[in-house]
Amino acid sequence: MEHNIKKRSSFSGGIGFVLAAAGSAVGLGNLWRFPYLAAQYGGGIFILVYIILALTFGFALMSTEIAIGRKTKQSPGLAYKTLHKKFGFLGYLAALVPIIILPYYCVIGGWVVKYMVTFVSGQGLSAAEDTFFPTFIGDTGSPLIYYAIFLGFTAIIILLGVNKGIEKISKFLMPLLLLLSVVIVIYVFTLPNAAEGIKYYLLPDFSKFSVMTVCAAMGQMFFSMSLAMGIMITYGSYSRNDVNLTKSVNQIEIFDTIVALLSGFMVVPAVYIFSGEAGTKASGAGLMFVTLPKVFEQMNGGVFIGALFFVLVFLAALTSSISVMEAIVSSFMDRFKLSRTKSSVICLIICVAMGIPSSLGNGIWSHIKLLGMDFLTFFDYLSNSLLMPFVALCTTILVGWIVGPDVVTDEITKNGEKMGRKKLYRIMVRYVAPILLVIILISYSLAQFGIITM
Ligand code: PHE
Repeated sequence: MEHNIKKRSSFSGGIGFVLAAAGSAVGLGNLWRFPYLAAQYGGGIFILVYIILALTFGFALMSTEIAIGRKTKQSPGLAYKTLHKKFGFLGYLAALVPIIILPYYCVIGGWVVKYMVTFVSGQGLSAAEDTFFPTFIGDTGSPLIYYAIFLGFTAIIILLGVNKGIEKISKFLMPLLLLLSVVIVIYVFTLPNAAEGIKYYLLPDFSKFSVMTVCAAMGQMFFSMSLAMGIMITYGSYSRNDVNLTKSVNQIEIFDTIVALLSGFMVVPAVYIFSGEAGTKASGAGLMFVTLPKVFEQMNGGVFIGALFFVLVFLAALTSSISVMEAIVSSFMDRFKLSRTKSSVICLIICVAMGIPSSLGNGIWSHIKLLGMDFLTFFDYLSNSLLMPFVALCTTILVGWIVGPDVVTDEITKNGEKMGRKKLYRIMVRYVAPILLVIILISYSLAQFGIITM
């Protein structure tokens, strides 16, 4: 009950809020998905499309979620109901998304910890062997132990609370993350033939441009900005009324996009130089855990750079996982009037129960399939390809057509701040964003059933 009587926690100011939200946004999506998509979809042209989408579509969705959070001062579970009583169902869906994501994200976080430990302890060369990754994730005990370690780190920060945990760690880790990225990029620039690799990354290749470029950029932006996961609503609910939201949204987007671009500079040229164009075709886990260790093996000082790189990935994944866990814990706290500790314990129990199949699905439980997918892939599909675009679509309908965009624009301008791109916002939230979200839903579904390739 104590939470009920206590005032809601809040970030101490604009910077704490921006860095925490940027911490959520910058994650595996920036480091393992953006570089690969950029290489795949025509380099510079993909980057350009991505930036335009971030400034329009991303700006509209992020402003909406943060404003809903700050206005209602509720976590996602209750925020939608507070806006409109018929939209309570959306709250449940929005709260379900982080519950599905957290367990499998922490399983992958565990893999990152394993690689970080391997590289930092000087064993990086062993990670370049073909059997290293499949043997590790196919094992029963050790991925579970690394999963528990990653989840443990996440839980400790959540237990410390909004100010002493999330805000403090974000203020420390985010600048460090940026610094590490810059150091690695500088190193990559000094590699022999770096210019060729950079050209491959940046030069627009129009022959690779198609409608799919736009679909891929849209999906990537959506995931990368942590939209429709309940996170921005939760963090918005912790932002103080005197914080300038337009400025904050811009800063969060800029931070996220800069790290994505830097990741491209870290990964694409190095992979291109050492494994040729074919190497850049590896995506996701394959790129990070199989191709990159091979690249580090061939580089001078590769074990050291590899260690820096996996520390960076670890920090990025950690600040993302704390944001997902916080979205769940705050929903439990608000909905059931529980203390932070009790909510965290319940969240941990659910996470362990759902994480175990995600981990074992790569090994002893690999024969169990859901819609033809192992557990981890299935949870990823369910959240990213179905629930998130659906939640975002309902949100734009609620804000654009039912309660009206003024609810958001009034919240953003309530202290007399100007809202830049206000007209654009209205058009985006009413017309463009819903259409784009329907396109995302359709293209993901078609891709899932092999009708198109993304
Ligand atoms: N924005 C994150 C990224 O780019 C995605 C994410 C955030 C995923 C939080 C899970 C939890 O990786």
